[in-house]
Amino acid sequence: MDFTEETAAQAVVDSFADTPDPRLRELLSKLVPHLHAYVRETRLTLPEWEKAIEFLTAVGQKSDEFRQEFILLSDVLGISMLTETINGQQEGTESTVLGPFHMTESPKRELGESIDLLGGKVPCVVVGRILAPDGSSLPGASLDVWQCTEEGFYDVQQPDLQPAGNGRGLFTTDTGGGFWFRTVVPTHYPIPTDGPVGELLSATKRHAYRPAHIHFIAQAPGHTTLTTHIFVAGGPYLDSDAVFAVKQSLVADFTEVTDPAMATEYGVTVPFRRAEIDLVLESTAARNAS
Ligand code: BEZ
Ligand code: FE
Repeated sequence: MDFTEETAAQAVVDSFADTPDPRLRELLSKLVPHLHAYVRETRLTLPEWEKAIEFLTAVGQKSDEFRQEFILLSDVLGISMLTETINGQQEGTESTVLGPFHMTESPKRELGESIDLLGGKVPCVVVGRILAPDGSSLPGASLDVWQCTEEGFYDVQQPDLQPAGNGRGLFTTDTGGGFWFRTVVPTHYPIPTDGPVGELLSATKRHAYRPAHIHFIAQAPGHTTLTTHIFVAGGPYLDSDAVFAVKQSLVADFTEVTDPAMATEYGVTVPFRRAEIDLVLESTAARNAS
């Protein structure tokens, strides 16, 4: 049979019929009809096909051990967040994207320690608990935290200006499942725009900004690992995040506190900001049952 507009997708799907791994066979067999439909519906021209190949080549060439332009592309197309959303916890705190600035090893810190190694302008205290879905506390849970500075840069983006580990910490919850640490309020910042994804954003008149946030990965035995953020309420770009990662349930007030007694309690000076968040982890048994 000739390869025509009508027969093309099925011919390619059939070519995967002997794929031994059933999941790989399913993924490829579902991918091809969508890609073919796109080509047919847009009446893709050969110069456009060439441009697309050039773009994807540039995305690959921009990627290395430190920079993952393909993930950034997935982020700005909403694919990362869609995948996160359909695989997220069924109960408990909502998850959101990991992003490219996570380090596998954050420096271990004691509860109450500051992750701001530079002495920023306005101190901030973040307090919370890691909980099971029934509200019971999870003592000894681990909490990996990372954030940008008040100027909007992660330590890895400014290795000459920031000490490694600035804005990062690996904490362990206390006997009541509680955690707290000192920091500064992060600000909004642009995702990297010096590559083909940046060109895509400017060609489409999209801005590159993410609203201010702090990243968390919470882990406890018997529970699903939670990758999430808290977003700073009231800041810009909450309704137009370049990577579509905002969930209303993750927006928290970073309230200004002027009470000197509270400042003494936390070892900061007034005025300071305080945010509170509970992270609720789904039980692995519940997830496996669903
Ligand atoms: C981040 O929040 O660190 C991030 C997420 C996606 C793309 C770029 C940065
Ligand atoms: Fe971030």
